[in-house]
Amino acid sequence: MRAVICEKWGGPGDLKVADVAPPVLVEGCVRIRVMAAGVNFADTLMIAGHYQLKPPFPFSPGLEVAGEVTECAPGVTRARVGDRVLAFTGHGGFAQEAVTAEANVYPLPDAMDFVAAAAFPVVYFTSHFGLANLVRLNPGETLLVLGAAGGVGLAAVEIAKHLGATVIACAGGPEKLAVARDHGADHVVDYRNENIREQAKALTGGAGVDAVFDPVGGDAFTAALRGTRPGGRILIVGFASGTIPQIPANILLVKNVTVIGYSLGGHRKRDPELADRSLGELYDWWSEGALKPLISRTVALENAAEALQALAGRKSTGKIVLTVGDTP
Ligand SMILES: NC(=O)c1ccc[n+]([C@@H]2O[C@H](COP(=O)([O-])OP(=O)(O)OC[C@H]3O[C@@H](n4cnc5c(N)ncnc54)[C@H](OP(=O)(O)O)[C@@H]3O)[C@@H](O)[C@H]2O)c1
Repeated sequence: MRAVICEKWGGPGDLKVADVAPPVLVEGCVRIRVMAAGVNFADTLMIAGHYQLKPPFPFSPGLEVAGEVTECAPGVTRARVGDRVLAFTGHGGFAQEAVTAEANVYPLPDAMDFVAAAAFPVVYFTSHFGLANLVRLNPGETLLVLGAAGGVGLAAVEIAKHLGATVIACAGGPEKLAVARDHGADHVVDYRNENIREQAKALTGGAGVDAVFDPVGGDAFTAALRGTRPGGRILIVGFASGTIPQIPANILLVKNVTVIGYSLGGHRKRDPELADRSLGELYDWWSEGALKPLISRTVALENAAEALQALAGRKSTGKIVLTVGDTP
């Protein structure tokens, strides 16, 4: 099969696309003919050796796919050959075939095509699960979203709006702000030249925001913390800026602010029934037209490096999806 291969830690330019043996199917797993694969910032971290998961070389990156189940190992009860699915793969998604535990595989609605499905799992699951179950965002509250035109940030904008919140979207540059507005943001802040703390206060009558969704970290985190109201919550989603914030605990104490560390994978495994309900709700919202996944580009598997460069270089909005073979 064709696959993107990482043989050493490095950048997108160090990847190869090659013919390799398909992955081995082991108990409790399903084999998926990959039709499309979502590209994530985490892929850029994984190939650089900066991600929490460091697979042995050689490996294929790729956290999420959509495709068709072609084989089920003994012990599989939920999936069947022929099912159209989306799946979390951990790694190995940038390939014509992927193998993953059946607990990572979810059926697709008939109306959802493979490209849209490949853009769905990581960003919508993360944002929905985090905002609904951890932040417990209430209607009428104000959420400040950092990196709001990126994959997970834009999904958070849409989900927060659907939960009835007012959304302040922070992103770099007018094009990205326009994308956030198109997806429902009430207010936008260009954090290249506007002060996040001042804007958070100004847009909330001086009170500060109720909650923050932060996939960026670095200075943006610190500014957002200072723009959070007493009693507010901050969801730590990622560090796309490359800087892990050192949190001034005195501010948390004085302001009674709660910082919530969040990794989707752990929660999904701990509470699969809640994850099923979360996806069911997301599918309902998607079919009602409330969620509009932005796939800003599709790129052929052979050109995966180009897609990863765009994310690493801050040049992407919404999701980039790799198409594999003749994706319908
Ligand atoms: N906790 C979880 O379970 C979970 C799940 C999904 C993703 N994540 C994490 O969330 C982060 C974002 O992932 P994503 O796939 O949504 O990425 P993405 O689509 O590339 O979006 C990241 C955004 O971060 C901003 N950014 C700020 N500084 C940056 C820099 N130096 N380089 C690149 N981008 C920068 C960019 O927006 P501006 O240019 O507007 O600043 C960009 O739109 C990653 O750290 C990822 O690992 C975590």
